[in-house]
Amino acid sequence: MERTFAMIKPDGVRRNLTAEILGRLIRKGYRVVGLKQMVIPRELAEQHYAEHKERPFFGELVDFITSGPVVAIALEGENVISGLRTLMGATNPKDAAPGTFRGDYATSIGENVIHGSANEHDAARELGLFFSDAELLK
Ligand code: PPS
Repeated sequence: MERTFAMIKPDGVRRNLTAEILGRLIRKGYRVVGLKQMVIPRELAEQHYAEHKERPFFGELVDFITSGPVVAIALEGENVISGLRTLMGATNPKDAAPGTFRGDYATSIGENVIHGSANEHDAARELGLFFSDAELLK
């Protein structure tokens, strides 16, 4: 059984997509083992996106992700890391298939509704950044 980190981004929360996205993840069969709504402190956002530090859009990305509440989700399930990425769709919404969160709800590469860890290493790192052990179900 795998665990991964998902986050409904500020645009998704602002547009009232939280219930829709959580509902789809739960109906898919994944188990929510951690959940919180929060405004991310700038330092945490910079840590979370540290691998993109040198990219030209880094400042914009950190500004956006700290611009309002996000919903941080720890998700458990069989092959959930790649499964979540499939449900999310491509990073750039213009390439995202209909039926995916980004294909259905996003129009911009910056404001693309949801984040999901890219691989096992990132999942462990990102879960550790956002959740303490005590905040996660056994
Ligand atoms: S990925 O999924 O890591 O391969 O995607 P990548 O293209 O490397 O993008 C990493 C994150 O940066 C966001 N992004 C941008 N934000 C603002 N402006 C521009 N131009 C831009 N390009 C990419 C993208 O939404 C990814 O965010 P996360 O939260 O990781 O999905």
